[in-house]
Amino acid sequence: MALVTNRELLGKAFEEGYAVGAFNVNNMEFLQAITSAAREEKSPVIIAVSEGAIKYAGFELVVTMTRTLAQDVSVPMSLHLDHGKDISVIKQCIEGGFTSVMIDASDKEFGENVRITKSVVELARPRGVSVEAELGRLAGIEEGISVTERDALLTDPSEAAGFVKQTGVDSLAVSIGTSHGAYKFKGETILAIDRVREIRDSTGIPLVLHGASGVSQETVSKAARFGATLGKPSGVPDESIRQAIGLGIAKVNIDTDMRLAFMASLRETLAEKASEFDPRKILGPAREAVKAVVTGKMRLFGSSGRVA
Ligand code: G3H
Ligand code: 13P
Ligand code: ZN
Repeated sequence: MALVTNRELLGKAFEEGYAVGAFNVNNMEFLQAITSAAREEKSPVIIAVSEGAIKYAGFELVVTMTRTLAQDVSVPMSLHLDHGKDISVIKQCIEGGFTSVMIDASDKEFGENVRITKSVVELARPRGVSVEAELGRLAGIEEGISVTERDALLTDPSEAAGFVKQTGVDSLAVSIGTSHGAYKFKGETILAIDRVREIRDSTGIPLVLHGASGVSQETVSKAARFGATLGKPSGVPDESIRQAIGLGIAKVNIDTDMRLAFMASLRETLAEKASEFDPRKILGPAREAVKAVVTGKMRLFGSSGRVA
């Protein structure tokens, strides 16, 4: 089917109390893994492409591959720019086939974030492209920091209400203590999950959780067995994801968990089949490992089986 917008996907999820996974792609194997999982799980899905991914894979290739695969699967799917910061890339996405963009001006002060986000909404709306913005800083909450320091990083519910009103965004990425990558918590897992409910109540729009990877210790150990030196990574527990979805998160972003699974599989294959040099025999199992991660997330987010 044709690509749909995040507005459409998230509106339904928000209403029905589940979340749609946004999975980052940089190459063909990830795209195939994600769409194949979506087809089997009968799940809506968001293909997330960062500015770095566009640079790596090429704009036209990303759009064409995604559109081709979307025709093939009978589940609603969107093509979304993740963490757009460069206005010229955002424009290229709006005009060139993406159905959703994120403008990330969360490093700017409130007024500047509003101004930039509003200008993107004005560009996107006439073309029917939906817009996600971010308010709050995506940094892990360290143990022992003061309440004032902690609150400065987290999304403030009343500020969020003003932000949504002034910008007209379709969805809002919130900070509740998660962070990107594989090293989210130094010790104890500290998350301000209750804030999701407060932000949902104050804004009334679908909320987005970035930095949501769980960082499977099994995958980390497997990678280590085959030579990876990852130190002590840690992620967001599944139970926290479930709670956050129950309180208003309608889109969950996953990249790290797929990267780890892909890398662990590559290491295993290269170590155990030292004479293999057919890329299909090396990348094929890694693609399957990514698919297994995506399938698990769709079940965790409650998006499996939502497509008739
Ligand atoms: O949040 C960022 C995503 O994990 C994409 O990362 O900018 O390295 O492509 P990237
Ligand atoms: P992870 O690094 O936790 O997978 O988060 C990905 C993300 O937020 C992409 O925007
Ligand atoms: Zn993110």
